Amino acid sequence: MKDNLIKTVLYPGSFDPVTNGHLDLIERACRLFDRVIVGVAVNIDKNPLFTTEERIALLENCCSELPNARVVSFNGLLVDALTRFQANAVLRGLRAFSDFEYELQMALMNRSLKEECETIFMMPTPQNSFVSSRMAKEVARFNGDFAQYVPTPVVAAIKNKIKAGLL
Ligand code: PNS
Repeated sequence: MKDNLIKTVLYPGSFDPVTNGHLDLIERACRLFDRVIVGVAVNIDKNPLFTTEERIALLENCCSELPNARVVSFNGLLVDALTRFQANAVLRGLRAFSDFEYELQMALMNRSLKEECETIFMMPTPQNSFVSSRMAKEVARFNGDFAQYVPTPVVAAIKNKIKAGLL
């Protein structure tokens, strides 16, 4: 048997914070692959609401029932993280057609940086197809019912940020 068959995927993202859509994808991936490494990007351009440690802690809490999921952080290029964590492929979620252009560009850029870097796309359930961290935070900021878009531990964490005047 070939030893480069996909066993471990790296699912990278900002996860600021993890949403039901992210969790949906992680759960699906955990059923398909031996190991799912959720990689929290440290050096994101956006000004994150949650620190890297908070984003990791929330993900760890949400993934506690998934024995083959592991949460890590990474700095620098994704292709280097792929090597560091011995992952065979990158996993990304594709929600809508609008995601496609950015995702295609990123997948091709990563492949041009590292020839063997393959990206696998998975779709969340339609109920989660429009959910994003950015929109969940915006709904929360304007007092809307954001709890339906994020896992339970994240609801409390966002409420704390609102109380602290950070959102
Ligand atoms: O959740 P996001 O914000 O869509 O995730 C984007 C992320 C973090 C996966 C992407 O920006 C990334 O891979 N950053 C690491 C730096 C890198 O490798 N850039 C070159 C490829 S585009």
